[in-house]
Amino acid sequence: MNTAASNATKEVPIDTSRLGGKAAGDDAHACGKQPLPATARDPNRVHRQLRINILRYNPQDPASVPHVQQFQHGMTLFMALNEIRETLDPSLQFDFVCRAGICGSCAMLINGKPSLACRTLTKNLDAEFSLAPLPFFELIGDLSVNTGKWMRQMSERVESWVHLKSHDVDLTRLEERMDPELAEKIYELERCVECGCCVAACGTARMRPDFVGAVALGRIARFKLDPRDTRTDADFYEAYSAA
Ligand code: FES
Repeated sequence: MNTAASNATKEVPIDTSRLGGKAAGDDAHACGKQPLPATARDPNRVHRQLRINILRYNPQDPASVPHVQQFQHGMTLFMALNEIRETLDPSLQFDFVCRAGICGSCAMLINGKPSLACRTLTKNLDAEFSLAPLPFFELIGDLSVNTGKWMRQMSERVESWVHLKSHDVDLTRLEERMDPELAEKIYELERCVECGCCVAACGTARMRPDFVGAVALGRIARFKLDPRDTRTDADFYEAYSAA
């Protein structure tokens, strides 16, 4: 664990005022490489929660009535961690890429529960809360773990690709048609962002390193549904039962 980060246990006020003056690109550099704008370093800034009143109306919808809707906006955990790293301790390690719940990079233990930090609003947490790296995966440092290494070996183990009848590549061949309902089911199984939360929370995976975990079972289900995949039930059983 990083010494500088672990020593920083004193109370650290996190300034939420950046939200108020945030320009479109203010937090665009999730890795914290961009210096803060001068206003963000102003010690007189006031902490505040934004309440945004937006005029809502859809002229395409006959049932729509113009109305003002209020949204309350709080800081996400991503913003809070970025603020800490940019203003208090540049050595703090954590991972973010998309900040939209798509890449799965920001999974961590939030009050002991595996969750995505970019989808967690600080306003939904108590004034004091704890963060720790996901267990089970190789620790890179602080809140950063190497889920990619585990996902890679899992993918190879369950052979996470379509097993076609022929290995010959024919670029002139027409795409195979698929029933839209079936495509939708496969798409649903493809939506896993491989954040590692399911494995980190799984007691069986923690006790039995040969257990492939929910993420792999989802993968197997996805290829089992795919009519192009020629593997049999016995093949799939082998894929996830072999140690
Ligand atoms: S940063 Fe991509 S899922 Fe959170």
